[in-house]
Amino acid sequence: MNLKNRNFITLLDFTSEEIKYLLDLSQQLKKEKYAGIPHKHLQDKNVVLLFQKDSTRTRCAFEVGAMDLGMGVTYLGPNGSQMNKKESVKDTARVLGRMYDGIEFRGYKQEDVEALGEYSGVPVWNGLTDQYHPTQILADFLTIQEVFGYLKGIKFTYVGDSRNNMGNSLMIGSAKMGLHFTGVAPKELWPDQALIDTCNKIAEETGATIRFTEDKMDGTNDVDVIYTDVWVSMGEPKEVWGERLALLHDYQVDKTMMDNANSDAIFMHCLPAFHGKDTEVGKDMADTFKDSYPRVKNGEMEVTDEVIESPQSVVFQEAENRMHTIKAVMLATLRDANE
Ligand code: CP
Ligand code: NVA
Repeated sequence: MNLKNRNFITLLDFTSEEIKYLLDLSQQLKKEKYAGIPHKHLQDKNVVLLFQKDSTRTRCAFEVGAMDLGMGVTYLGPNGSQMNKKESVKDTARVLGRMYDGIEFRGYKQEDVEALGEYSGVPVWNGLTDQYHPTQILADFLTIQEVFGYLKGIKFTYVGDSRNNMGNSLMIGSAKMGLHFTGVAPKELWPDQALIDTCNKIAEETGATIRFTEDKMDGTNDVDVIYTDVWVSMGEPKEVWGERLALLHDYQVDKTMMDNANSDAIFMHCLPAFHGKDTEVGKDMADTFKDSYPRVKNGEMEVTDEVIESPQSVVFQEAENRMHTIKAVMLATLRDANE
């Protein structure tokens, strides 16, 4: 398998075998890390991390992953560079590509990460755009594999905004790896039909199935994984909370929903999650909407505190796996095939 110089912009660009290879490599790197076996395979290389939006997991996973591989790292935050304000993405790409061996990008437009990939001449990794979040899917699938021992045939349900970056990417990943994907949400929040059609085509080859339902009990009955994400994503205006709550408050992942799944089902979330009043936004939304939507009165939005804190929840294992999988993506795209 040779992924050298490839961009990692959407999982649509990768075959099932290539994704499996990245998961196997992640598993190996995780074992080495736990055993204290150094893996500084990319000494003398340098990477730059471009963030137009905030991040805890993705930034730290790239930084620690790069340092574990022996690389130098530069972080450019939402206000730290000339990009967008005084310099186009295309020009930024051609500058950074002359200094760095790889570029991570988190931002708004998928076109921007594609432009970086096209013009920089070095591998570009998508750390989240409004459309996709592909590195998160590798961590999620590594976690599912660790828990169940396999991916193909897993009954996977995503509850919530099914046309956001997570909904889109989990559907693509499921199609590629042969999972049975169900999206549970009001119709207004289902993905573009064109993307569903693309995934159904892929599913024909892999044995995956893709379906959507508005019925939360039907969609979560006897499944292995229940996954959710925030109801309002980064970059969306605060004003959408009202309409999103109206659409999704009844889709909050609670114990009744978990009990409807298989007895050994797990709960997953890419994080950060609103499950209490101990965040500014959680508190603000709870105070604003407690009378119209009693479910959110304690700052619990997409998931209850009881579910995320339960033994069924694997969210922190999933968060740790961001680092092992992102490290694998950098290693696979930067090292020579036979190294
Ligand atoms: N899941 C995830 O991407 O988290 P961050 O926003 O903290 O990077
Ligand atoms: N849909 C979320 C994912 C965060 C990792 C967002 O874009 O904010």
